[in-house]
Amino acid sequence: MNSRRRILTGVLAFALLAGVAACTGDGSGGVRGTPGAAGLRDPYFPRLGNGGYDVGHYALTLAYDPATGRLDGRAEITATATQDLSAFNLDLAGLTVRGATVDGAPAAVSRAGNELTLRPREDLDKGAEFRATVTYDGVPQTITDSDGSEEGWLKTSDGALAVGEPTGSMAWFPGNHHPSDKAAYDVTVTVPAGLKAVSNGVMTSEKKTADGHTTSVWHSAEPMASYLATLAIGRYDTTTATALGKVPVLTAADPQVAAKSAALRAGVPEILQWQTENFGPYPFAAAGAIVERDGDLGYALETQSRPVFPLGSFDTPTLVHELAHQWYGDSVSPATWKDIWLNEGFATYSEWLYAEDFAHTPAQKSFERAFADEDAWAFPPAEPPTSEDLFAAPVYQRGAMVLHKIRQTLGDDAFFEILAGWPAKYRHANATTEDFTRYVESVAGRDLGDLWDVWLYGDEKPAKP
Ligand code: ARG
Ligand code: ZN
Repeated sequence: MNSRRRILTGVLAFALLAGVAACTGDGSGGVRGTPGAAGLRDPYFPRLGNGGYDVGHYALTLAYDPATGRLDGRAEITATATQDLSAFNLDLAGLTVRGATVDGAPAAVSRAGNELTLRPREDLDKGAEFRATVTYDGVPQTITDSDGSEEGWLKTSDGALAVGEPTGSMAWFPGNHHPSDKAAYDVTVTVPAGLKAVSNGVMTSEKKTADGHTTSVWHSAEPMASYLATLAIGRYDTTTATALGKVPVLTAADPQVAAKSAALRAGVPEILQWQTENFGPYPFAAAGAIVERDGDLGYALETQSRPVFPLGSFDTPTLVHELAHQWYGDSVSPATWKDIWLNEGFATYSEWLYAEDFAHTPAQKSFERAFADEDAWAFPPAEPPTSEDLFAAPVYQRGAMVLHKIRQTLGDDAFFEILAGWPAKYRHANATTEDFTRYVESVAGRDLGDLWDVWLYGDEKPAKP
């Protein structure tokens, strides 16, 4: 019993003595916790994520059989209670939950929509670290986003691919699936003979099992938002290299696209070198890329340390874009989905900078081209009207235009200080748009309200670029 409980027990005794009907006892002598919130009130996905706890680590143990499409999973979640908890939720879409424990004791399980509720036998004290396990199985779902794109669990020509932006990760493991709760991961995956699994981070072991399966273990020590977790299962040709003198680079490509993607995959260390010079230290212990056939997924995604691409999007600008996200989006993650322009604006601007340095196209030219694009003006980048708009042109193009206006207004010295200073200040953390404007004003030493009003929040296209 902690001291806070002793005080409250005293209050309870006083209430009983005073003849007040008290109903806060929980049988174990402590006060009764309350259920954690079923969502974190994200502006676009109010039920995404859950309140009352903060995850520190996910240990996922998974087995997948492409022949049946069945996934067998066990998630072990280490978290800290941020309130006295009688129950808490995890987000999980589809799949069958076979059982759950909290701190080794069976927990009661209930489900409603994508909310999985665990009720531990004993309440959890605020501040206590606890361990929840969920065993589950089934055929994971593909989720169609409001913009029509597909995420979650995608069946590929020879296996499967998990992609989770913005809400797909709940299709393959239970968790606190909001970007504000980042955690370390260890993912252990068993696949049939002849197939490989590739996930985020460093592969710490790969073994053949007695019955001919292959089990690999993937370790991500740095905090990761769950939408950036990936798992690629299939036949892959892999390459290894070293970037920045120390970072292991692992690329994997479906054998059908391996030759076509080889030269660019070999270019990952060079791009990371250029980005490190501009953006500051690379934030992760591993790097790489995963390249799939075009029919296997519809877009590239900046999955942490190892972005994924369909072959058709595996070109230099997109590789530069997804690798730039490692700093902007993956290390500095959005506090809510409303802050998505901080991801896409920076990643798009990194393409402009790359073209300036390597393709004789000044960023000013890219800016003017984006300015002339009518699609970019549908809404202000910091205010996408609906979840359908989170990955629409204004988020990318006007997002990058905001950065270019900062560069025009403050000059290159201050701008490049911001480019590296922003990911340094919020390294492995989360940030809001207001954190960004405050930070830029602190570097500028002055108010930039007019710039924000027009370029970040303004509905109208300015008369001149
Ligand atoms: N973040 C990805 C990129 O680098 C795009 C993700 C698109 N997702 C979606 N649901 N539309 O541009
Ligand atoms: Zn992007």
